Amino acid sequence: MSLKDKSNDLRARMRNALKGGGDKAIQKQKAVGKLTARERIEAIVDPKTFYEYDLFVEHAGKDFDMDKKYLPGDGVITGTGMLSGHPICIYAQDFTVAGGSLGWMHAKKITKIMDHALKLKVPLIGINDSGGARIQEGVNSLAGYGEIFFRNTLASGVIPQISVILGPCAGGAVYSPALTDFVFVVDKISKMFITGPEVIKTVLGEEISMEDLGGAKVHCEITGNAHFYAKSEQECFSQIKKLAGFIPWNNTRKAEKFPKKRPKTKLYNIENIISEDPREPYDVRDVIKAITDDSDFLEIMELFAQNIVIGFGRMNGETVGFVANQPLVLAGVLDVDSSDKAARFIRYCDAFNIPLVTLVDLPGYLPGVDQEHAGVIRHGAKILYAYSEATVPKITVILRKAYGGGYIAMCSHHLRADFVFAWPTAEIAVMGPEGAANIIFRKEIAAAEDPEKVRQQKIKEYKDKFANPYVAAAYGYIDAVIEPKETRNLLIHALEISSEKDVKLPAKKHGIPPF
Ligand code: HXC
Repeated sequence: MSLKDKSNDLRARMRNALKGGGDKAIQKQKAVGKLTARERIEAIVDPKTFYEYDLFVEHAGKDFDMDKKYLPGDGVITGTGMLSGHPICIYAQDFTVAGGSLGWMHAKKITKIMDHALKLKVPLIGINDSGGARIQEGVNSLAGYGEIFFRNTLASGVIPQISVILGPCAGGAVYSPALTDFVFVVDKISKMFITGPEVIKTVLGEEISMEDLGGAKVHCEITGNAHFYAKSEQECFSQIKKLAGFIPWNNTRKAEKFPKKRPKTKLYNIENIISEDPREPYDVRDVIKAITDDSDFLEIMELFAQNIVIGFGRMNGETVGFVANQPLVLAGVLDVDSSDKAARFIRYCDAFNIPLVTLVDLPGYLPGVDQEHAGVIRHGAKILYAYSEATVPKITVILRKAYGGGYIAMCSHHLRADFVFAWPTAEIAVMGPEGAANIIFRKEIAAAEDPEKVRQQKIKEYKDKFANPYVAAAYGYIDAVIEPKETRNLLIHALEISSEKDVKLPAKKHGIPPF
C-alpha cells in the first residue's frame, strides 16, 4: 500500500471510530438536551487544542456475545488540550456507546490519562455520563473502578481534579467524583446515586424519581456532593473556565497572578454593610465583594450549608480563599454541614498554596439534640483540624460576634492565624451576654425582688465588659482593631508580608483527621 492508500485507510478507520454509538444513539442523546462527549470536550478546551489518544482501543468483553460487538473507543474519549492557555488532561464518557458503561479497557483508557496528568502535573477533568460498571464484564469492570479510585486518591492534593456530571452516574461511578476536588452538575441532566430508583423500589418498596433521588439540585442543596450548579451544559463549561482562573495547575505552583483591580465601592460600601443593631443580619458576601478585586467572588457550594460561605476572590491580583460565616442563615452558626464544607475547602487551599482569609461573625456551634446526635463533635473538629494543619498564610478579620468555640474555630491566633484583625463592632466572649448572665448570675437573679430588672443589669454588665474587641486585644489575641474601611489595604499588606511564609509541621506519615 502506498502512503496515500495507508492514509486513506487511517482516515476510514478514524471515521468509523468517531461515529461513536451511531446516529440513532446520538439523536437520543441530543433529544434530552445533552451534547456528545466530543462536543463537550471541544466546548471546554481552547479552540483547536484537543488531541485525542487511544481512539482504536477495543473492549475486552468476551461473555454474553460481547466478542461480536464493536464499541468505538470503548465508550470513552481521552486526550490532552489547553484550558485558558494552560495544558490539561481530559476524558469524557460517551453514553452513545453501551451507555458509557465502564469495562476493563474503558477504565484502562481513563487510568492512562490519569497517570499522564499526575506525571505531567496538570489538572484532570473527567466528564461522567455512564450507566456504571459494564455488567457483561463482571469483576473486570469493578477492577477498573478500583484502579480509578486509587489514582484519584494518589492525585489528591497534587493536581486539581474536576468532575463534571453530565448524565447518569450510577453505582461505583459516583465514587470517582466523590474523591475529586470539584463536582459540577447541570439541572435535569446530572443524576448521581449508588442504587437507582428500581433497586430502591425492589429492596425497600419506596418509590422515588431519579431527579428526586439524585438530581443536580439534590446534590447541591441536600447532600453537598456537588460544588457547582448550572442550568445548562454551556453555563457549566463557563463555570469550569472561571474556576480554572483561580487555581494553580499543581501543588508546586501558585495560582496565576492577574492585573489588580479596585473593588466596586459604589455597589459594595464596606461602611454600610453592618447595621448598628448587632442582631440584624447582613449578607457577608457583600463584605467579601467590598474587598476583592473588581468585587469578583466565585462562590463554591453556594446552595449547601449556606450558614457558611466559601469561595475564591483576588486581592491585588492574587487568588485568596475566603471562609466567612453568613449571618443571613442561622445567624452564621457552625454545624455539621458547614464544618464539613469549610474544612474541605481549607484543606484544598492549603494543598494548593492559596492563602486563606477568614471573616468571623457567629454565635458559636449550633446547639440541639439533632446536631449532637449527627456528630457535631466529630464534624466540628474537622474545621479545628483543617485550620491548625494549614500552613498557607492565614488572616482573620472578626467583624462582629466571635463567641465560644466559634471564636477558636474560625482561625483564631490559637490555631496559628498569622494575623487577626477586628472591627470595633467585634464581640469576643465565651457566649452571648444573655446566656452568660443567666448562668453566672443565676442565684442573684433568682433572689432579686425584680429578677427581670437584675437580669437586664447583669446582661449590660457582661456586655460592657466583654462585648467588644478590647479585652481580647489586651491579651494580644487580636493584632489590630481597625475601621472597616481599612480592611482591604491591611489584608493586602498582611498577604504580601506572609507571601514567603514557610512553616513545617512535625514529621509524620500523615495525621488522622476526624473524617
Ligand atoms: C452495560 C449498560 C449499562 C451497564 C446502560 N447500559 N448501563 N450496559 N452495563 N451498567 C446500556 C444499555 O443496555 C443500553 O444498551 C444503553 O446502555 C443505553 O441504556 P438505556 O437503559 O437504554 O438508557 P436510559 O434509558 O437513558 O437509562 C440509563 C440508565 C440505565 C439509567 C443509566 O441504563 C441504567 O439503569 N443502567 C444500569 C445502572 C446501574 O445500576 N449501574 C450500576 C452497575 S453496578 P443498548 O444496546 O440497548 O443501546 C456498579 C458497581 C460498581 O457500578 C461498584 C464499584 C465500587
